[in-house]
Amino acid sequence: MLKIKQVRWILSFCVFLIYMICVQFVNAVWAKECPQDRRTQKAPTSYISKESPLRQEPRHIKKGKVLSHIKAKPIACKQCHGMQGDGNGAMALNMNPKPRNFTCKATMGEIPDGQLFWVIKNGSKGTGMPSYKHLPDEKVWQLIQYIRSLTSPAS
Ligand code: HEC
Repeated sequence: MLKIKQVRWILSFCVFLIYMICVQFVNAVWAKECPQDRRTQKAPTSYISKESPLRQEPRHIKKGKVLSHIKAKPIACKQCHGMQGDGNGAMALNMNPKPRNFTCKATMGEIPDGQLFWVIKNGSKGTGMPSYKHLPDEKVWQLIQYIRSLTSPAS
């Protein structure tokens, strides 16, 4: 027969185990890596120097947000990049590499607009990032204005 003391010990050990499993799970799901490990292929030089023809305007940010959250086909960006753009979308759970965390200034600040444009148009081969070739350039630039707004001081 087990003594009360042993039962107590076993119970506390189980509670501890469950606690550790929960911590791991929460970390895997919610941890926002920043700076983020980034090994994305570099865009061709002709893209890197591209600049947005759109003026910085709230209506463009709004349209970019609607695209990211709802309209972008075949899959809305938020499914992977998350509602807040922090890379924790529903589909990001088992993804390796993880979707980019757009709210991470340390990583996003190093990436030129032309690189973002190229990845959105062409996808990132060998990763979950699909290509949105069919999106007109203007919509891609609106997406970029929205993405940039997530690290701008105003947001
Ligand atoms: C199915 C999941 C998925 C969807 C949907 C998705 N992405 Fe991504 N995205 C990723 C992953 C994964 C990466 C990381 C790729 C890498 O590390 O090279 C990424 C990376 C990026 C990057 C970073 C490029 C760089 O050079 O670092 C940008 C910008 C981006 N996505 C924009 C978008 C936009 C805009 C949309 C919607 C129009 C979108 N993504 C939809 C998974 C997704």
